Amino acid sequence: MSELVRIFDTTLRDGEQSPGASMNVEEKLRVAHQLARLGVDIIEAGFAVSSPGDFDAVRRIGQEVEGPVVCSLARAIAKDIDVAWDALKGASKPRIHTFISTSDIHLKYQFKLSRDEALKRAVDMVTHAKGYVDDVEFSPMDASRTEESYLFEVLEAVIEAGATTVNIPDTVGYALPKQFGELIKGIKEKVPNIDKAVISVHCHNDLGLAVANALSAVVNGARQVECTINGIGERAGNSSLEEIVMILKTRRDLLDLDTLINTEQIIASSRLITGITGMTVQPNKAIVGANAFAHESGIHQDGLLKEKTTYEIMSPESVGLSKSTLVLGKHSGRHAFRTRLEELGYNLTDGEINKAFERFKSLADKKKEVFDEDLEAIVQDEVLSLAIPERYKIVSLTIESGTESQPHALVQLEVDGSLRRFEAVGDGAVDAAFRAIANATGTGSKLLHYAVNAITGGTDAQGEVTVRIQEREDIVIGQGAHTDIIVASARAYINALNRLEHKKKQGDMLDLF
Ligand code: KIV
Ligand code: ZN
Repeated sequence: MSELVRIFDTTLRDGEQSPGASMNVEEKLRVAHQLARLGVDIIEAGFAVSSPGDFDAVRRIGQEVEGPVVCSLARAIAKDIDVAWDALKGASKPRIHTFISTSDIHLKYQFKLSRDEALKRAVDMVTHAKGYVDDVEFSPMDASRTEESYLFEVLEAVIEAGATTVNIPDTVGYALPKQFGELIKGIKEKVPNIDKAVISVHCHNDLGLAVANALSAVVNGARQVECTINGIGERAGNSSLEEIVMILKTRRDLLDLDTLINTEQIIASSRLITGITGMTVQPNKAIVGANAFAHESGIHQDGLLKEKTTYEIMSPESVGLSKSTLVLGKHSGRHAFRTRLEELGYNLTDGEINKAFERFKSLADKKKEVFDEDLEAIVQDEVLSLAIPERYKIVSLTIESGTESQPHALVQLEVDGSLRRFEAVGDGAVDAAFRAIANATGTGSKLLHYAVNAITGGTDAQGEVTVRIQEREDIVIGQGAHTDIIVASARAYINALNRLEHKKKQGDMLDLF
């Protein structure tokens, strides 16, 4: 029988550190339920001490999501560990993940600690965490740039103190696959008590090597991989879960390793993360990109028609891509609608289904065919984006534009329950609408990014707009969908402004890495 590699998903912690990818508690819960359906072994639900929102997310995921181990990150500081435990104590399978840097570069310039001090802190804090829970993970941050004999000494000491998993981070994405594999081999050979802990790896993608490094580590004895859906994460991101899992599955002949992942939930998980974070996946991204299973060349199509394996090394169905993407029409009922959403990974409440169904009916009146992507946009626009408090609401929007007149927008907004009406002219219809909204809300934010995407083909397609705005340190994303792209744009801008207000209220307490 093949050995198992544990999948530790850190989409909700490291993934959420991607600029603009922050999620609120309801969104994190939705993701965590999907991760449980996907079958991950461990969910890193957040960094409990970093903000009240993160604390709440860890607490609620621990209490409400069944199946995986639920973990909170904690610096090697007693207060962090106490708060992590406070958040985790209602979970049926809790884990505390504590970390401290071990590379000279971090110790000298960032933490002003000697090697001996860092080692003592690591041991003391693993011991402290063990006072709460048996399942304790330790990470020597920047391990791939840490002097090897010191790294081995730290690992031996934390395992002696009770760490059950030792995670080796390539924090800055500097390692090369052969070198990183040899590091893991060295740990296996030279840390005397390594048989008492699982070796884990956590690779960043700064040089595009996160998946290759994690794979090389696994080949050399690592049995836990930390990864994220769509590879999101700090800077260039982390190892992508779907790539690691599908490599192990597709090349089992050579690697002889397994995971417990239900691979048919991969696409639903990927789309959920895209929908919530607004971070779209490049079309040629392995496994989950729009083109990953699209065969364009005549020779390839000919081969596929004769025998699928000529050009397909894994089937689209194995990752959860349905054969036909045409889903529903105007005569489809509520039951079919709910079933399709469930297949796409959205388990909504009755109230949410009703809202989304109303919107679906009005879209189906305008468009003959409604596709999966349309449904996802509806859920995002009508349900998920409203999981944050709406300080601003669009009451109406009227636009005049054309070749002979300067674009003009009149917007009526509800702001804190009272009506505001503002007009503006602009360089184009979207510019005029955004200026009117900015005046009505008095926002001091800056627009960093605006993108519009036709969700499906045809001129009746819904337009999906993503905006990214910034105010001081806070960067947030907003999304909106509508068959009229000016309305979609206004909805996206308002969604971003509401998220910004929410973020300011939540106030992150720590700035990390
Ligand atoms: O990249 C890193 O080193 C981390 C650690 C906290 C595991 O995210
Ligand atoms: Zn990281």
